[in-house]
Amino acid sequence: MKNLFITGVTGFLGGELLVELSKKQDVEKIFCLIRAQSFENGLIRLKKIFDLHGDYFDTQKVIPIIEELTDAELSLKLINNPALAEIDTIIHSAANTSFSKIYDNIVEKVNIEGTQHLLEWAKTLKNLNLFTYVGTATICGKTVKDCIVSEDMSPNTDAKHLVKYTYTKMVGELMLKKYLPSEKILVVRPSIIMGDSRKWKPRSYVILWALATLNELRLFPGNSDSNVDIISIDYAARSIIELVLNENRKYSVYHISSGKVSSTTPGKVTGAIADFFPGKPDFKFVSRSLMADMKKWSKNTVLINEQSNLFTYRSYLDYWLNMYDDNSKLRILFYALEPYIDFIELGQIFDNSRLLEDTTIGQSIPAHEYLKITGETIKEINIFEGAVDY
Ligand SMILES: NC(=O)c1ccc[n+]([C@@H]2O[C@H](COP(=O)([O-])OP(=O)(O)OC[C@H]3O[C@@H](n4cnc5c(N)ncnc54)[C@H](OP(=O)(O)O)[C@@H]3O)[C@@H](O)[C@H]2O)c1
Repeated sequence: MKNLFITGVTGFLGGELLVELSKKQDVEKIFCLIRAQSFENGLIRLKKIFDLHGDYFDTQKVIPIIEELTDAELSLKLINNPALAEIDTIIHSAANTSFSKIYDNIVEKVNIEGTQHLLEWAKTLKNLNLFTYVGTATICGKTVKDCIVSEDMSPNTDAKHLVKYTYTKMVGELMLKKYLPSEKILVVRPSIIMGDSRKWKPRSYVILWALATLNELRLFPGNSDSNVDIISIDYAARSIIELVLNENRKYSVYHISSGKVSSTTPGKVTGAIADFFPGKPDFKFVSRSLMADMKKWSKNTVLINEQSNLFTYRSYLDYWLNMYDDNSKLRILFYALEPYIDFIELGQIFDNSRLLEDTTIGQSIPAHEYLKITGETIKEINIFEGAVDY
């Protein structure tokens, strides 16, 4: 019987991991590090996770531990909590996943210091068998382009990062071996997790927000044929759970990814949802460099005149003004969207041979297939709220 401790359960991936693990017979208890005002409030947050798709919330099995990762006293508090003394398996899924520069400090605090606090506690656990760190495949950095990336190419301390988030995830991963022996470490590195392949509302609109925004704009400043590695949340969660429970796995680091066979492209993904929105202009893929003009235009429409390449697509500018009647509103969208486009433009595919070798999961469904069912969900996404939240 396993005694689990999970972080990030109120998040996109952590929520899915929690619900699925709570159904396993050989899991005895799941302690969830969760931010809340009180124990009762923590229970309410947990209940919401189970209520979303009508799953049973077993309060005997799933227990909130009200803590905050950045608390300098966290490791001491966990060490002194007798309920946690028998923990044998930890899954660290919590992170601050923001790409926005304005959150760089908190991203660093949560992802580096928070991980360190957890490791300081983990190394004291007498029964610990496994510390699972949910990393990210994108720690390989921005100079790795248009190729298949293997697990062994990271972590590379010389890697250049598009955003602070991937840097902090790399540092977090590098810290593991300072605290724990290799045989107790499992690193799972998802690629891009977007939407759910089941016919229901995904737990979070994170990343799907970018697709919803591009769907509104219809002018895509990027290459339609760039290779993108996208997986669904259900595929990601099932893969990670199989690896956590498989004591015979051969490696300590795995990509959780589509690999080449199930990879996709922006052209295919936008094509998968286009039919849901018959009244909108066609998707148009233009040079990435036009993003600069789009941002300029959103500050002041007059700055874009006949000399600008963007002027060629003025029917899209008219369409935007028609929809939002205020070009400055679009500014927030363009700034929030930019790092997503930069990730897509890298053309990175993450090798999934290890995952296929050590699980029964099989290839993922390509995003352009499973996203066909998300048209209605995309209509529900408030892209302006999402630009601030994600
Ligand atoms: N989504 C992807 O496409 C993707 C791809 C590759 C890797 N990953 C990795 O997968 C993991 C999960 O990502 P996600 O998409 O599920 O993220 P998410 O939806 O943003 O969830 C983040 C979780 O972390 C918790 N958290 C944040 N700051 C915290 C703090 N200071 N103390 C305690 N908990 C805190 C959040 O709790 P609150 O609800 O209290 O804020 C939430 O439960 C992350 O490690 C991420 O790096 C995700």
